[in-house]
Amino acid sequence: MRKVSDEVLIVDNVHKYFGGIRAVDGVSLKVPRGSIVGLIGPNGSGKTTLFNTISGFYKPNKGRIMFDGRDITGLPPHRIYKLGLIRTFQNPRVWRSLTVFENVLGSAKDQRGENMLLAMIHATWASQEKKLAKEALHWIDFTGLAPVDTRFAPEISGGQMKLLEVARALMGSAKMLLLDEPAAGVNPVMARKLFGGIERLRSEMGLTFLIVEHRLEILFDYVDYVYVMHRGRIVAEGKPEEVAENPVVHDIYLGG
Ligand SMILES: Nc1ncnc2c1ncn2[C@@H]1O[C@H](COP(=O)(O)OP(=O)(O)O)[C@@H](O)[C@H]1O
Ligand SMILES: [Mg+2]
Repeated sequence: MRKVSDEVLIVDNVHKYFGGIRAVDGVSLKVPRGSIVGLIGPNGSGKTTLFNTISGFYKPNKGRIMFDGRDITGLPPHRIYKLGLIRTFQNPRVWRSLTVFENVLGSAKDQRGENMLLAMIHATWASQEKKLAKEALHWIDFTGLAPVDTRFAPEISGGQMKLLEVARALMGSAKMLLLDEPAAGVNPVMARKLFGGIERLRSEMGLTFLIVEHRLEILFDYVDYVYVMHRGRIVAEGKPEEVAENPVVHDIYLGG
């Protein structure tokens, strides 16, 4: 692991409650720049809530979040997005009336309404700004979506939608990506391709990843480090081979 000063994301004692539910109950974790870190835990353990809190969709009840040397606690999602901390959703959020290509191209711009976006896409072509279009095609190719790039978003498979979300995040000038179950519904060959792509983005572009994924047999082949959540807390952490052998982890996955 790297020096403390090289941590791009620092989550410090973060709490997020929904009424009496302590969905995130004092989580601290660090993600070194250029690393691929996994976040695992049974359903309901607070992983998505933690992602929502880091990315500004929820304000924490308590705690501090530092990104790239800056305190981002309580900043709105679009500000955090602009800083290059970009998340994908467990249930993909795509523009339904746009094609795959238009979805990726549109992510280069701010998150505005669909009509606004269509107008901008036409303006982009009209003004011959082909650079963004080229970049969009690059990420479509990278994520394996080239065969469906002219399809409308609702026509592609669930797995392809996950890939589309990743392609959109890459178009958004990311420094760090928070991926919520990127391989859910993606077939094993494509899932490994996706993780291979993640490794390449780390080595070629220095991107950093924090990834929630239930398919541990795939995840553990690619991550440097793993945090395990249970009932809102981090209950174990370590290298994947250490976590895989940790009895605490076995217990919670067996419903303890
Ligand atoms: N918006 C919400 N309102 C109320 N409770 C919520 C909300 N989101 C999540 N929860 C609760 O918080 C807990 C953690 O959920 P979640 O973060 O989705 O877990 P995970 O992603 O690990 O499956 C669960 O008990 C869930 O029911
Ligand atoms: Mg979740």
